[in-house]
Amino acid sequence: MFHPDLSLESPGLRVAAALGSGRGSVLGPRRLQKVAYYGCESGIFPVKYKPEPRPLPPMLILGIETSCDETGIALYHSERGLLAHALHTQVAMHQEYGGVVPELASRDHIRRVLPLIRRVMREAGAALQEIDAVAYTQGPGLAGALLVGTSVANALAFTLGIPALGIHHLEGHLLSPLLASNPPKFPFVALLVSGGHTQLMRVAGVGEYELLGETVDDAAGEAFDKTANLLGLGYPGGPALAQLAGQGRAGQYKLPRPMLEQMHRTGNLDFSFSGLKTAVLLLVRKEAPDAAAKADVAASFQEAIVDVLVAKSMYALEQTGLNQLVVAGGVGANRRLRERLDRAAAEEGCSVFYPEFEFCTDNGAMIALAGALRMQGSGVKAEKSAEGGYAFNVKPRWGLSTLV
Ligand code: KG4
Ligand code: ZN
Repeated sequence: MFHPDLSLESPGLRVAAALGSGRGSVLGPRRLQKVAYYGCESGIFPVKYKPEPRPLPPMLILGIETSCDETGIALYHSERGLLAHALHTQVAMHQEYGGVVPELASRDHIRRVLPLIRRVMREAGAALQEIDAVAYTQGPGLAGALLVGTSVANALAFTLGIPALGIHHLEGHLLSPLLASNPPKFPFVALLVSGGHTQLMRVAGVGEYELLGETVDDAAGEAFDKTANLLGLGYPGGPALAQLAGQGRAGQYKLPRPMLEQMHRTGNLDFSFSGLKTAVLLLVRKEAPDAAAKADVAASFQEAIVDVLVAKSMYALEQTGLNQLVVAGGVGANRRLRERLDRAAAEEGCSVFYPEFEFCTDNGAMIALAGALRMQGSGVKAEKSAEGGYAFNVKPRWGLSTLV
């Protein structure tokens, strides 16, 4: 357990002074009328998502995401929607090492988190004292990176006397399509495809997640990254491989579709991608492909992964009798996957929902949204409150199905 007020060096203590907040400050009248825009790295855009008003009092939630290599901050209002968000990605910093260096990631989060919070507050035209709760990614992820957001969130909540909510990173991804202009309605099937996870879930409501299937080895994003590495593509591998695949012929190489053939017989919705990656390894060793052949390998690999993800997602819809599929996580940005899922779903009379491209990969908006939904009506109590104390921990390993 860590106490944000104990370490002088921690960003947790400095956050209060740096952001100029005061403990026990009297909350002034809400003044959010003029915040009809949100910003991101590339500019300011009109707000797209405005949820239906809920019976509970309106709330303003600050979201903090620092689980891996992106510092994401967002301000979400339960009635007005997303007011502002900002993201700093560490891709350029990790690129020369070919992957995420955890210690560098933590240090960079420390550098970025407070300026980004200031920026989001400024762009939303809101004051810290107007925030009703701080939601932060508590896990899963890199321990050091998680500690940065967690300590800042708890210190800020402590100074403001408001709840701090530890959010499950995957729950953020899972709910991120609700930020879109055409959100799905509960219940739905969710396909979670990120760098660390590949899961199919039945989602009945906030906190009501039933695991239908998951990977028994590599995650889909991990398979993309490792295969990209085999083909000599840089980090992050997924987008680079997808881009190369666009120039190749998917039918050129026959690669395995693991755990697919027996699916209809056994009803098993689990995934396995390490064999596919090994098949590419053997192929590359045997054929030493030139640039054009590498594009064919990339296309064949992408098609194999997409085949499996599409078939299992459709079967999950069939098994559950639901007709809405939500796709979340970084691999959800893959255009070929979207194309194939859209086609398969249309044939079955089902709909597929995706987060906006910018909310497919890690971001603060999904964490703020998950915090708002948990605060608003799920019956789940805030983990921390002004009365409950602000000792905190992080959960680098944390199963989504343990959430309630
Ligand atoms: O959700 P995310 O940003 O971080 C985790 O929580 O893991 O997902 C990152 C993963 C990486 O493995 C990355 O290579 C993959 O998503 N990814 C993609 C694409 N964009 C990101 N994989 C395939 N095609 C893409 N376009
Ligand atoms: Zn993620």
